[in-house]
Amino acid sequence: MDFTVTPSAVSDVTVKVPGDKSVSHRALMLGGIADGTTEISGFLAGEDCLATLAAMAQMGVTMERDGATRVVVHGVGPHGLRAPDSDLDLGNSGTAMRLMAGLLSGQPFAATLTGDESLTVRPMQRIIAPLTEMGAVIESRSGRPPLRIQGRRPLKSLEYELPVASAQVKSAILLAGLYADGTTTVIEPAVTRDHTERMIGSMGGSIQTDGNRISVPGGQVLQGGRIEVPADLSSAAFVMLATLVAENADVLIEGVGVNPTRTGVIDILQAMGGDITLENARLFGEEPVADIRVRSSALLGGPVDPALVSLAIDEFPVLFVAAAAAKGQTTFTGIGELRVKESDRIAAMAAGLQGLGVRVDESDDGAVVHGGAFGGGIVDSHGDHRIAMSLAIAGTIAGDPVRIRNVAAVDTSFPGFSECLAALGVRIDTVGPGVEG
Ligand code: S3P
Repeated sequence: MDFTVTPSAVSDVTVKVPGDKSVSHRALMLGGIADGTTEISGFLAGEDCLATLAAMAQMGVTMERDGATRVVVHGVGPHGLRAPDSDLDLGNSGTAMRLMAGLLSGQPFAATLTGDESLTVRPMQRIIAPLTEMGAVIESRSGRPPLRIQGRRPLKSLEYELPVASAQVKSAILLAGLYADGTTTVIEPAVTRDHTERMIGSMGGSIQTDGNRISVPGGQVLQGGRIEVPADLSSAAFVMLATLVAENADVLIEGVGVNPTRTGVIDILQAMGGDITLENARLFGEEPVADIRVRSSALLGGPVDPALVSLAIDEFPVLFVAAAAAKGQTTFTGIGELRVKESDRIAAMAAGLQGLGVRVDESDDGAVVHGGAFGGGIVDSHGDHRIAMSLAIAGTIAGDPVRIRNVAAVDTSFPGFSECLAALGVRIDTVGPGVEG
């Protein structure tokens, strides 16, 4: 399946984007091991989170879905999960696999985690090392999935300095830490998203953050409750950029999560001259939320502050498009982690933008993007949802239509993406196998 995006104007509208992927995964996992019922609203019914939902169901958690975005999770308590009778297939989701590995490390049974072609080449040694130190026995294919995890209870508590800034690795260790015989501490090299910490706190758990040290005592029982999932800032970023690069558009995106460990994309776009303001700031539980107003702006290139990388880790593909649309050169550094995401995102964005005539000079852990007008063409998503959507946004301002090949993965994080772009006034057609007309 492909998208064809025709250069279009953007209308002044108010839009909503789907729920936050990171918060949705965590709500299912923590709700599943809590005592009592957890009612999730605003759940992201994308393929990644549905894989987590199926895996929790395979381990004996009963869940009811009420429409697309409400899920009631009947928690089985910390000791209630049972061995699945087949492998847990986590599809395309690195988050599901790494967090689930942490959870499984504390269970008194063995389970196998597997996934699709992209997931099975992603690095897992980063979780295997600390979880093994805690006492889990993990077999892998030279540090890649499938992972067979024999859990142990209790695990040994651990103090662990993360070699890479990764919320997935941090969260895997914290989830395992809930099953450890003492307090487990993770030390981060840079701040990463803290949804796990906030959710444990909101479910009555004890967890302390002291600078870059996060500590969780083992043996806790979390309490179910209500979790309202904010709209995903990582999805809102596509709407933000479509608006910024359009002419004279003014768009409001409602109810978006603006947790400060996620808002690097706003800081970077504002530094490039983007007119972005937060309105109606409020809290959904422990998560800060706001409506985001975006107005078309002339973007200017420049060096992107590497201190913001871990706060904008998923937004670099769309920031490459911002750089292509900006005046002058934009230099990205310290983004080597992008090479081990759903695709090698530096290479995939460089190739996609080069296919439209943009000059991109790649380095090991960065790129220089030379901004200015660019043309249409046929480009490839490399099966990566964020590459597909970023190149679609590039299509809104290209000189000619842009066809993006292989876009089915968009449903992993942003079901309804093309409808959302259409609501903005963008002409986006879905073409290819399985699509009528
Ligand atoms: C996520 C953490 C990030 C991000 C991913 C979601 C999470 O990965 O890229 O999409 O929910 O914890 P890393 O923490 O591994 O960089």
